[in-house]
Amino acid sequence: MDRAVELKKAFAGIYPGEPRVFRAPGRVNLIGEHTDYNDGFVMPCAIAASTWVAIAPRPDRRLVAYSQDFSAHAEIDLDDPPPGAEHHWSRYVFGVAWVLESAGHRLRGANLLIKGDVPIGAGLSSSAALEVATGCALLAASEIRMGRVELAKFCQRAENQFVGTRCGIMDQFVSCFGAVDSALMLDCRTLEHQLVRIPPNVTLAMCNTMVKHELASGEYNKRREECERGTRTLAKKKDGVRALRDVTLEDLTRPEADLPEVVYRRCRHVVSENARVAQAVEALHKGDLARFGALMGESHASLRDDYEVSCSELDLMVDLARQLPGVYGARMTGGGFGGCTINLVRNDCVEKFKEAVSRGYAAATGKVPEIYTSTAGEGAGEVSIVDRAEPAPATSEAA
Ligand code: GLA
Repeated sequence: MDRAVELKKAFAGIYPGEPRVFRAPGRVNLIGEHTDYNDGFVMPCAIAASTWVAIAPRPDRRLVAYSQDFSAHAEIDLDDPPPGAEHHWSRYVFGVAWVLESAGHRLRGANLLIKGDVPIGAGLSSSAALEVATGCALLAASEIRMGRVELAKFCQRAENQFVGTRCGIMDQFVSCFGAVDSALMLDCRTLEHQLVRIPPNVTLAMCNTMVKHELASGEYNKRREECERGTRTLAKKKDGVRALRDVTLEDLTRPEADLPEVVYRRCRHVVSENARVAQAVEALHKGDLARFGALMGESHASLRDDYEVSCSELDLMVDLARQLPGVYGARMTGGGFGGCTINLVRNDCVEKFKEAVSRGYAAATGKVPEIYTSTAGEGAGEVSIVDRAEPAPATSEAA
C-alpha cells in the first residue's frame, strides 16, 4: 500500500476528520561541506527516503502530534509558547510551529500523524525532512500561502533556535527544492540555485557507518565559531570580508593574517571547498564523472585533515569504496563525526560494491553497515491520496 494511503488509514484510527498528507525528502550532499554557514556553495540532492505528515485542523489552538517511528505522542498549546517539548522529535515539529507563530503567522490547531524512513542520526537530514514536511502541513492546514525559500528559512530558524544546532540553510533548502535526477547547486549567500543533471549511468550509494552523529552538535557549533573567528580577523585586514566566502587562499597565507594554526586550517578547508564546488559543477555539466569523483576525494581529505570532522569509521568506509571497480568518487557527507559516506557508483557495479563494502567494513569493525541507494528525487509537496484498493465512486454516467 502506498505510504499516503497507509498514513490516512492510521490517521482515521486515532483522529477525526479527513487528513491531507505532505512529504519532504532527506538529502545527500555530493560536495560543498561545512560551507553553507560561511555563505558558500553546496551541491546536495534530495533522496527518496522521506518524512510524511498527515494533518487535519482542530477547532482549538492545540497541536497534537503522534510519531509512528517513536510510538510517542506529544502536544502543545499554541497560545502558551514557547512550547515544552519532551521528545527529541517533537522539538522539530513544535519548533517550526513556534517560529511561524513568532513571525506573526497565526496557525490553526491541528492533529498530526508522522512517519519517516530517513535513517535517524545518519547524516541524511531526517531533521530537515521532518521540519519541512511539518512546515508544509501546518501552513496548508492554516491556509497560509508561503514561498519555498521563506519556508526553508523558517525551518532552519526552528533548528537554530529551538534545537540549538547552528546549522546552515542547505538541508532545508534542498528538501524544498530538490529535483528528479539532478543535483542542486546553491549559493548560500544569495540563495540563487541551479539544477545540474546527474548522468543516468550512476547511482548514489550511501554507506552508513552506524556511528550516530547525534552528540556532535557541540563540535558542529565549535567549527562554526572557529570560522567566525577567522572571518573577524580577516575582515580587519581586507575590505569587504563578511564571511569566508569573500576570502582567497592567498588571503589566508599573507603574514599579516596571522591566524592561529587551527583556525587557519578550518578556513583553508572552507575556502578550498568552495573552489571545489565550482569545479565540480563544471565537471558535472561536461559529464566528467572521473573529475567529479577526484574532487570528492579531495573534499574528504580536507574534511579529515583540515576541518577534522571525519572519524576512523568514515575514513575506512571511504578507503574501502575507493578501491572498487565502478566507483567514481567517495567521501563523507553531512556534518560528520559518523553517519554516512556518499559514493558515486556506476549502475552495473552497485551490487558488487554493496557486497564488498559490507564485507570489508564488517570484518574491520564488527559492525554491519546499512547501504542505501537512491537516485536524486523530488523536493517537498502534498501527496495525493489514491487508494487503489477502494472501489471508485459511482459517477452519474455509470449509474
Ligand atoms: C549539517 C547541517 C548543514 C551543513 C552540513 C555540513 O548537515 O545541517 O547545514 O552545515 O552539516 O555541510
